[in-house]
Amino acid sequence: MLLKERLAAEIPEWRERQRKLAKEYGDVVVDQVHMRQILGGLRGVKALVTDISYVDPYEGIRFRGHTIPEVLEKLPKPGKDDMPYVGGLYWLLLVGDFPTEEEALSVEEEWKKRMEVPAHVFEVLKSFPKDAHPMTLFAAAVLALQPESLFAKKYKEGLKKTDFWDPMLEDVLSLTAKLPSIAAYIYRLKYKDGKFIEPDPNLDWGANFAHMMGVENPEYKNLSRLYFILHSDHESGNVSAHTTYLVSSALSDIYYSFSAAMDGLAGPLHGLANQNCLYWLKGVMEKFGGVPTHEQMRQYAWDTLNSGQVIPGYGHAVLRRTDPRYKAQFEFALKHMPDFPLFQTAKVAYEVIPEVLKEHGKAKNPWPNVDALSGTLQQYYGVTESDFYTVMFGVGRSLGVTANTVWARALGHPIERPKSVTTAMLEEEIKDK
Ligand SMILES: CC(C)(COP(=O)(O)OP(=O)(O)OC[C@H]1O[C@@H](n2cnc3c(N)ncnc32)[C@H](O)[C@@H]1OP(=O)(O)O)[C@@H](O)C(=O)NCCC(=O)NCCS
Repeated sequence: MLLKERLAAEIPEWRERQRKLAKEYGDVVVDQVHMRQILGGLRGVKALVTDISYVDPYEGIRFRGHTIPEVLEKLPKPGKDDMPYVGGLYWLLLVGDFPTEEEALSVEEEWKKRMEVPAHVFEVLKSFPKDAHPMTLFAAAVLALQPESLFAKKYKEGLKKTDFWDPMLEDVLSLTAKLPSIAAYIYRLKYKDGKFIEPDPNLDWGANFAHMMGVENPEYKNLSRLYFILHSDHESGNVSAHTTYLVSSALSDIYYSFSAAMDGLAGPLHGLANQNCLYWLKGVMEKFGGVPTHEQMRQYAWDTLNSGQVIPGYGHAVLRRTDPRYKAQFEFALKHMPDFPLFQTAKVAYEVIPEVLKEHGKAKNPWPNVDALSGTLQQYYGVTESDFYTVMFGVGRSLGVTANTVWARALGHPIERPKSVTTAMLEEEIKDK
């Protein structure tokens, strides 16, 4: 497998770099932890390492050092399509270099070989009550795949630590290969006729998702690729990435680790935000009977703030500018749906809300984030069931978090075990202050 050969060639150098830092410079102080951070969600504490992506507060996410516009431009694309192969992005995340077309297609081929979902997974999904949230089904389906884990099997048989990454790579390819089918089936089961649309062997991973969803418009294939690429990774500290890493650090396999991550993504402060943005935009349109004027938008935004709520889709824990993932979706919408009223409403929001949030004076970042527009784009193509959007986020997020687990195995990262203190111990720290 091309991907495995390239990884095998890359790993020794990275092992040596991290070994040297840990062994020879183990006492170097990298960061200090403040009281407010300990009591405030560990915000900003430099305590994780990943080379796969980095969020610059002003430039936004970089995948392997490359900005979103660069990634979208340089990854190989199918024919004349707007958006690249997701397999190419996975190569970039895992290996660190832009793939050639052959390399991107080699990942797509690995996915095709492994995409068949075992029958029992469909049965598990069918057995849930009708009102179960699609994220519950998604996490359960991933867990139902756990008996497939090659890592768990090989570990039980006895595996050298330096070889851990190999069955992990096999597992992550097998898991990610199946996620578009699983997600699309959940969609068909919950909202459509319940019939699984078989994947088309001639389509790539992203386009196959669009096909299996049953969305006719060919542009949706491009949107799916874009959506998965944009949601793939955002450093290691966010809940879904950190959960995957933490659970996997116990040498739990990727099925355990990723299903736990999806439980975190299901939380309203993480993956559910895109849904709230859509409700908010629709609320504006309902109130004013269509696309609002700038003044009406301003009034609605202030009403939201004055009632003690946040404006969904704006603000970010790390970013301090418009999220480039928002910009990429904005450009897609300008090209494909400039007259769509929901998009026009989102556009008015973009022109008004940052100023309102600045006047309000609380949010450290008044600019839109990735969630502000993603639901709008889905609505245009008829995927209107907003409960489902987090599942698509999860499919995309699988790429970054699984790439990280392969590297954590390759670099022999240990089990994660921070130390906790008591409130009295914290109070002791301030006794003389
Ligand atoms: C993303 C988010 C959770 C980041 O939280 P954070 O790191 O605590 O953000 P800040 O440090 O800027 O928060 C400082 C204050 O501004 C407020 N604030 C931040 N974003 C805001 C927004 N969009 N609307 C109103 N107030 C906001 C916070 O609630 C906080 O208020 P508090 O001091 O009364 O608790 C926050 O911006 C938010 O709730 N945004 C809306 C929901 C959203 O879009 N989530 C998706 C994120 S990708």
